[in-house]
Amino acid sequence: MATLQEPMARAGAQVEVAPELPVVRGNQAVLLQVVSNLLSNAIKFGGSHPRIRLSAHVENRMATLIVADEGIGIDPTHHEQIFRVFERLHGSEEYPGTGIGLAIVRTGIERMGGTVGVDSQRGEGSRFWFTLPAAEQS
Ligand SMILES: Nc1ncnc2c1ncn2[C@@H]1O[C@H](COP(=O)(O)OP(=O)(O)O)[C@@H](O)[C@H]1O
Ligand SMILES: [Mg+2]
Repeated sequence: MATLQEPMARAGAQVEVAPELPVVRGNQAVLLQVVSNLLSNAIKFGGSHPRIRLSAHVENRMATLIVADEGIGIDPTHHEQIFRVFERLHGSEEYPGTGIGLAIVRTGIERMGGTVGVDSQRGEGSRFWFTLPAAEQS
């Protein structure tokens, strides 16, 4: 979030982070890239004064992290396509971007042994999620 202070302030975004997040196994630099791509999308497509929630849970030794916004949402017919490189649903005048963020999210997470997805309907916000192996409890 420290790297996103400027776009957050410009959009008037509020990010609510769950008080406890699990420790996961993965590459820290890749994880940083993944989370900041999801957060920056939530800021960009989250409507005016985006309200964003970051939460997580662990089940069967896999952690799921969720980035949820209350923005423009995505029609289910586009859920597959948006994870491919250079696929965007809007013109760059409307929402700037290059269309590689979610491709990096998917490739990075799958390389670390996780999966990614989105739950969303057009106009009803989006919940992007990914899984990663939870770190062993000592
Ligand atoms: N939180 C979101 N809410 C609505 N649409 C989204 C969201 N995140 C991504 N998208 C859609 O998926 C497309 C691809 O996202 P991404 O790969 O990050 O590219 P970019 O951010 O450069 O447009 C976006 O252009 C947008 O159409
Ligand atoms: Mg993006």
